[in-house]
Amino acid sequence: MVTISFFKARPSLQVPKGSNLMRALLDAGLPVASSCDGDGVCSKCKIRIVQGQKNLSKQNDTEDFLKETNGISNEYRISCQTEVLGDITVDATYW
Ligand code: FES
Repeated sequence: MVTISFFKARPSLQVPKGSNLMRALLDAGLPVASSCDGDGVCSKCKIRIVQGQKNLSKQNDTEDFLKETNGISNEYRISCQTEVLGDITVDATYW
């Protein structure tokens, strides 16, 4: 198991290593913005990685394209395209 912690006070989550970041957050009852339901089209599911960038899967081609096209900085990851491989701390403006 790995730990997802939150930059703003809220209890951390334990999830299996390799979990999809967006799915793990949704399963825990947290809202994640999306209009494509994880299909890798909208880029709205971007989540800021406050700590632990190295503990995430490498960016795939879909994420590379979405971040470049939408000018999304490297502190963000497209959560529906990202697997959690170790402990991270995350944030979203709407939490
Ligand atoms: S939910 Fe649309 S790109 Fe992730």
